[in-house]
Amino acid sequence: MPEPFTIDPDIARAWTLPARAYTDPAVFEAAKERVFARSWQFVGDEGEVRVPGQLKPFTLLEGCLNEPLLLTRDMKDQLHCLSNVCTHRGTILCEKGRSESGAGFERTLTCRYHGRRFDLDGTMKHMPEFQGVQGFPSEKDNLAKVAWGKWGTDRGGWLFASLSPRSSFEEVLGPVMERMSFLPLDRFVFDASRSRDYLVRANWALYCDNYLEGFHIPFVHAGLNEVLDYGEYAAEMFPWCNLQLGIGKSGEHCFELPRSSPDFGRGGRGGGGGGGGVAAYYWWVFPNLMLNFYPWGLSVNVVKPLGVDSTRVSFLSYVLDASKLDAGAGAGLDRVEREDESVVEAVQQGMRSRLYDRGRYSPTREQGVHHFHRLLASALFE
Ligand code: FES
Ligand SMILES: [Fe+2]
Repeated sequence: MPEPFTIDPDIARAWTLPARAYTDPAVFEAAKERVFARSWQFVGDEGEVRVPGQLKPFTLLEGCLNEPLLLTRDMKDQLHCLSNVCTHRGTILCEKGRSESGAGFERTLTCRYHGRRFDLDGTMKHMPEFQGVQGFPSEKDNLAKVAWGKWGTDRGGWLFASLSPRSSFEEVLGPVMERMSFLPLDRFVFDASRSRDYLVRANWALYCDNYLEGFHIPFVHAGLNEVLDYGEYAAEMFPWCNLQLGIGKSGEHCFELPRSSPDFGRGGRGGGGGGGGVAAYYWWVFPNLMLNFYPWGLSVNVVKPLGVDSTRVSFLSYVLDASKLDAGAGAGLDRVEREDESVVEAVQQGMRSRLYDRGRYSPTREQGVHHFHRLLASALFE
């Protein structure tokens, strides 16, 4: 176990994470089990498992947890998230692009190694040559069930999974789901052409630190600074997530909010014409998920730790209103990303310095970073 560190709950007295939090391979390894395996991870939209008999094998947090999982919709129209590892000798059960019937729809799952057969809810149904095996079959011969949660409507939505949840799905994602409930969730459409991965030569937590403050916007993002009103930027903390509100300068694309939204009238207007308003909702969900809502739709960023100083960030775009794609805070995301990467990579070099260990926080501009550091330190060492 790495040497523990703590973060003072009072931001005015607190020091930031020590440099070794970003450079020590032991901290990185500890985070896999203590932080990531216990967190809720974004899996994608329900689209690929809409019909009974559909299966979707996937890897949970590829490059970090690498857990082989399987989404299924059984014949009773129930969704399941299961282990994709056969309970006999452990081969991968369902491989991408390989379908027994050839149609991509199955009534059962059969292991190609020795023929063990499972129902789509994970129950073991049949195993050749197992007569006389004591205590067989037992619960343990069924595929392990994995906790999952859905944010959406009966017509579709986004799925999340957790191997060993520290808190319930509702506790973690509840504040996001409630605040954004004004959005027509069933009208977001995934756009592969606007989705891509970025490789960042820095620790995953540095990427999150940078996301969690708007402090650097005037210094690092000249283009973004022209559309956001820095003085109006506001952050709110929740138990497992936090929200940064991007307030648009007058004339920029903003959300048309219903009167029932707590943000109605913020930045000087409630909807339509006028000046200012909410231009972006930047949600961060512990430990590695960003949900950025813009008037055009949602940009999901999944931060995937690959090594102590190497991270993959997957940007996934879900479009709601294509006519608003190229304006306001939600435009030019590729440029903003390159600007962030270059500064985060410079911080990674700084973390290797013999002359730096920890810094202090701005109480007005770095509450989000402080929040993350407290959650991370307690998840690692509680
Ligand atoms: S490993 Fe699946 S049946 Fe043997
Ligand atoms: Fe940034």
